[in-house]
Amino acid sequence: MERKLGVLVHGAGWVSTQHISAFEKNPHTKVVAVSSRKLESARKRAEEAGLEGIGLYDNYERAIQHEGVDIVCVCTPQQYHAENTIAAAQSGKHIVIEKPIANSLDEIRKMRDAVHQAKVKTIVSFVLRWNPLFQTLKALIADDAIGKIYMAETDYQHDIAGWWSGYEDARKVSTGVSALLTGGCHAIDALRWFAGQGRFQAARPVEIFAYRGGYRKGLTTEYDHYTNTWKENCPPLEYDGLEVALIKFENNVLGKVSVNYDCVQPYTFPVEVFGDKGSIKDNRIWSHKFPGQKGWVTIPSIMPESADVSHHPFQGQMDHFVECILQDRESHCNLDDAILTHDIPFAALQCYETGQPVKLPLL
Ligand SMILES: NC(=O)c1ccc[n+]([C@@H]2O[C@H](COP(=O)([O-])OP(=O)(O)OC[C@H]3O[C@@H](n4cnc5c(N)ncnc54)[C@H](OP(=O)(O)O)[C@@H]3O)[C@@H](O)[C@H]2O)c1
Repeated sequence: MERKLGVLVHGAGWVSTQHISAFEKNPHTKVVAVSSRKLESARKRAEEAGLEGIGLYDNYERAIQHEGVDIVCVCTPQQYHAENTIAAAQSGKHIVIEKPIANSLDEIRKMRDAVHQAKVKTIVSFVLRWNPLFQTLKALIADDAIGKIYMAETDYQHDIAGWWSGYEDARKVSTGVSALLTGGCHAIDALRWFAGQGRFQAARPVEIFAYRGGYRKGLTTEYDHYTNTWKENCPPLEYDGLEVALIKFENNVLGKVSVNYDCVQPYTFPVEVFGDKGSIKDNRIWSHKFPGQKGWVTIPSIMPESADVSHHPFQGQMDHFVECILQDRESHCNLDDAILTHDIPFAALQCYETGQPVKLPLL
């Protein structure tokens, strides 16, 4: 009988629930250990998931050495992703890295070196690449439904605030860095994905210019769209909640991307793609393939309209990763590819300092 690949899930918080569920459902994998800062959190997560007889740790180094671990999921807050990834790579484990991958270019360089040296497989959780609407649009684009793409726009509009368990780390400059890095990286990755013409191809950015603004930085009042109320005396966002970037891609596509934590509205993730034979606006399409078209054709799909991790298509992401490991091939969403997405938030910070466009890649 085939031995299942063993999974260690590290960082027993919100997103870890979905990593555990996806790897438990995949026929080739099973979760063999959970680790976290607090042993109690690891135990609680395992119990909730109905996992019995697995390893539980509050020591990451020992958890990695747990018998039968082949894959490590890095689900800790972002300031630990680099060191967690490097340690897993040095132990020869394949790695699922939660976004954002790191808090500095220096950390990213070291992660890349460690992963290349160890020759392990990686995937970064830009999970929207497996959202059904994204998959449909990407297949349509690859099938020439809107012709040659010349422009794309994506926006991450999300009132990230105290309702999120990870907010205390993410809201600070020292641990979260910026809005484009913490949450906006999802929109940047989607922009690269739709600016790429091929079915599994994300476009390569060559230049960026960005502005930042909005009104929320430093405010102690925050909006909560779950309850549609404002709350007072909240720990403030330490960086600007709005960033807008213009990006030139290697294939001459022009892109606009924004992250907006200041919005007073439910979560939305608008997508627009323009080609020389049609256009896409979210789930609506205008295409040369529909001659005599009188109105937008609407695709009844699952939209990227929820920030809840249980709504995110982690199953598709993890199934793809397991296939990559078993077939010894790289994912389109591996660390090398994700570095091109992460270049943008760091280049944007350079723009704010110099007021000048920045050539890419940075690394
Ligand atoms: N791809 C996506 O769509 C998506 C969605 C949500 C989150 N994320 C990302 O996933 C990461 C985790 O987010 P989350 O929402 O799950 O946050 P979270 O609920 O705060 O979970 C993080 C967990 O990590 C543990 N932890 C904290 N410091 C640690 C340390 N030094 N060593 C070991 N464990 C530590 C904490 O558990 P203890 O109880 O043990 O302290 C905490 O529960 C973030 O980078 C976030 O951006 C991605």
